[in-house]
Amino acid sequence: MEPFVGCRVLGKGVGFGKVILFNEHFVVYGLPAIASAIGARTTALVARRAGSGVELKDERPETPGYKAEKFNQQKESLDIMLKFTNIDTQHNHFTVTLGGDLIAASGVGASAASCAAIARAFSDELGLGYSDEKVNEVAYEGEKGYHGTPSGIDNTAATYGGLIWYRREGSSQLMERMRLQKPVEIVMGNTGMTADTKVVVAGVRERKEKDPQKYDRIFKSADQLVRDARKQVEGFNLERLGAYMNEDHKLLQEIGVSCPELDMLVDLARANGALGAKLTGTGRGGYMVALTPGRDLQNRVAEEIGRKGFQALRTTIGI
Ligand code: MEV
Repeated sequence: MEPFVGCRVLGKGVGFGKVILFNEHFVVYGLPAIASAIGARTTALVARRAGSGVELKDERPETPGYKAEKFNQQKESLDIMLKFTNIDTQHNHFTVTLGGDLIAASGVGASAASCAAIARAFSDELGLGYSDEKVNEVAYEGEKGYHGTPSGIDNTAATYGGLIWYRREGSSQLMERMRLQKPVEIVMGNTGMTADTKVVVAGVRERKEKDPQKYDRIFKSADQLVRDARKQVEGFNLERLGAYMNEDHKLLQEIGVSCPELDMLVDLARANGALGAKLTGTGRGGYMVALTPGRDLQNRVAEEIGRKGFQALRTTIGI
């Protein structure tokens, strides 16, 4: 890459926010999972000038404290991506600016969306011509800064958007597109707590190793559950889909990744008519997701969450 000597130019990129509808954590061990893009994105702009080094300006909206808590992991993630892509920061200075309407918070794929957006913005700025596949590969590397051993579901959802069936097999990331008959309203309730994915994933591994029999049983149930849930998505049977989300939440509780705040939001959503509700993403903080088809139900659940002093995000899956 030649050192940059011309006038300032801007490379642009986006990454999609996501919600995991089934089988976070189980997906780390090769079980299938279902995720959907939500109608919010992270954008990245890359500006280049003469000099050296990289500067990151994070202008995303956030759950208070999230950016400060993730600062070191974010830096590590950016370094990994720059190294992986052989981008020359010795003879070029880059300013990366993150923005968009996706809240920087645990549970909405914020880190993955930023990685995909950054990969796309560098590709645009430097004329690298990255395909979506390549963007996904770079974003996966970037996710290692946050996750340690990511399953790849977050970067895949962030790169491609839409509704996906995802499974990891060895080092391959297998994605199939799924369709919902029409978009469905959901509410995501924010605990306001930032989770450390590396720590929570490591906790599951530790407990799984200590009690293999219990975890075998739970994992078998999760495997069957997501396959049954897929049929409900395909048949647009929302009542059954909601019931399966409730079941998935139980399994996630059993592997120790829920917390009182998530359980409270899940119960509140169900008590106000949600067809199903569960934690989403890492757990131990972050968001819960409730299936609330129709604007009226969505508003009712979101308002109740707001009344309890928590922030509720009204969005849709299957877009
Ligand atoms: C985090 O959004 C999803 C986890 O399953 C971790 C991963 O898949 O890498 C908890």
